[in-house]
Amino acid sequence: MQNFTYWNPTKLIFGKNQLEQLKTEVTRYGKKVLLVYGGGSIKKNGLYDQVNSNLKDIEAEIFELSGVEPNPRIATARKGIEICKNEGIEFILAVGGGSVIDCTKLIAAGAKYNGDAWDIVTKKAFATEALPFGTVLTLAATGSEMNPNSVITNWETNEKYGWASPAVYPKFSILDPTNTFTVPKDQTINGIVDMMSHTFEHYFHLEENTLLQDRMCEGLLLTVMETAPKLLEDLENYEHRATILYNGTIALNGMLSMGFNGDWATHNIEHAVSAIYDIPHGGGLAILFLNWMKHNLKVKPERFKQLAVRVFGVNPEGKSAEEAGLEGIEKLREFWSSIGAPARLADYGIDDSKIELMADKAMSNGEFGKFKKLNREDVIAIYRASL
Ligand code: NZQ
Ligand code: ZN
Repeated sequence: MQNFTYWNPTKLIFGKNQLEQLKTEVTRYGKKVLLVYGGGSIKKNGLYDQVNSNLKDIEAEIFELSGVEPNPRIATARKGIEICKNEGIEFILAVGGGSVIDCTKLIAAGAKYNGDAWDIVTKKAFATEALPFGTVLTLAATGSEMNPNSVITNWETNEKYGWASPAVYPKFSILDPTNTFTVPKDQTINGIVDMMSHTFEHYFHLEENTLLQDRMCEGLLLTVMETAPKLLEDLENYEHRATILYNGTIALNGMLSMGFNGDWATHNIEHAVSAIYDIPHGGGLAILFLNWMKHNLKVKPERFKQLAVRVFGVNPEGKSAEEAGLEGIEKLREFWSSIGAPARLADYGIDDSKIELMADKAMSNGEFGKFKKLNREDVIAIYRASL
């Protein structure tokens, strides 16, 4: 285990009827509020009205930025930054999924930056400060509600990059499972795949003596796999929605990855696909992760075997670590297809015509991946296996 410091300042407010806490929380930061949301799901399910009524109760002056896209765009963040600068916004409230929250993070940092916010995304500039913001989460997936990460797309140049700064931890996040009842089945599945993938990204590392971390990752995976099929049969089940929502946050708020660095190559490979084809992040991961695993099985077969035995119930008797590991990967494939996750890039109409371009995008910062450094040939092999 490596030395580490754990610090996570986001106040997590979880459960039924917690929206009321907006009043106390927002009041701490100011009355001029920019409300950021997506394409309208919050208007359909009534959350928009509830948020507005809470903000009106504290006599907040409300400005709005709507239409944040799934895979949020730099152009939209720029609009938000302009509102913040022109109107003297004091606090930003993100109401939505990971895309709305990620866009809000860039708005918050961009409002304090004297230049184009794309500099922050491309790491030409580091966000040392940001406007305070909070979130009302509506979709279980990214963990953005309790982490310092943001992923932004430049649609003009087909680039999608993640950036991070301690300045963009949300001040608070309100997680009411009821607010996720209306997430459609396909997005619910994408979110489940995303949180499982975050756990796999942690799990594949080269550090020794991570006994508790391993068990925590395995526990999360088992919990999600036990709950997902039940939730998908009953999308408005409060207990199942709560379990999945909580798992999504824990999977990427730093709790599972103390003392080691996870791999994160598959996320990079996926971001290059959604930068060009605009596919849902979780859907892309379901297709690519299995092939990343197969490609890297030989790096440390014991690790794959441990996952296979402990999470997928593989009997290791008479099998090499590689054989047991491969059986685990096949069990994961079976699980993801059983819940209806996509299996091939062809499911999104993606053929081999842009493989070279996707590889260029994925390689834009050089070789990547902590468990196994991938070069261009590796990336192309993983894309080819995923067609
Ligand atoms: O835009 P609206 O109308 O709100 O609809 C959204 C959107 O179409 C809909 N939705 C959200 N909550 C809903 C709902 N529909 C009905 N009822 C609700 N309660 O779902 C669609 C997808 O939303 P989005 O926010 O895009 O999904 P997600 O939370 O999966 O976020 C994906 C983005 O996060 C990035 C991804 O790359 C992608 O850009 N990631 C961010 C991370 C982070 N910040 O830590 C880590 C992740 O690995 C990921 O890369
Ligand atoms: Zn992800």
